[in-house]
Amino acid sequence: MVTAAEFQKSEIDGIILESAKKSLSNICHVLSERNHRYNWTGVYVVVGDHLKLVSFQGAATEHVLIPLGEGLCSLAISRNETVNEKDVKSNREYLACFLNTKAELVVPVRYGDKPIGEIDIDSDEKGAFDQDDEKFVEEIAEKISPLVKLIYDQHEKNLR
Ligand code: SME
Repeated sequence: MVTAAEFQKSEIDGIILESAKKSLSNICHVLSERNHRYNWTGVYVVVGDHLKLVSFQGAATEHVLIPLGEGLCSLAISRNETVNEKDVKSNREYLACFLNTKAELVVPVRYGDKPIGEIDIDSDEKGAFDQDDEKFVEEIAEKISPLVKLIYDQHEKNLR
């Protein structure tokens, strides 16, 4: 039987989770609004052997659940490093989302050294991202790590 205390704790977990998702959504919004080349900005979280889209700013995508192993999004996780593709059409690993996308930047979000999610940015401009963008988005990835960790942990709990 679920005790009153347990019920409240799970209710509170739900509130915390919703706040984390809302914050990530606002952060995606700020990134896309303030940087004209960031045409689509999203946050994926590692869930088992998939990447799950938890927040985004821009058009809706069919890639809400990406099997690890597919796309540039997976590459950033398996390599545990930033992927900066200046010309997506030239990369066979690229998983096409939007017709207009020409460049993509994927930055892992880590807990300690472990990649638990990522920031994914699509641009309509070829070669849109330079080293300054990489550095900047890597800093943002560090900042959002506690929020991503909350969502990652919740999924881990549900997978058990
Ligand atoms: N292009 C990504 C898929 C996600 S969308 O860009 C939103 C990839 O190659 O993994």
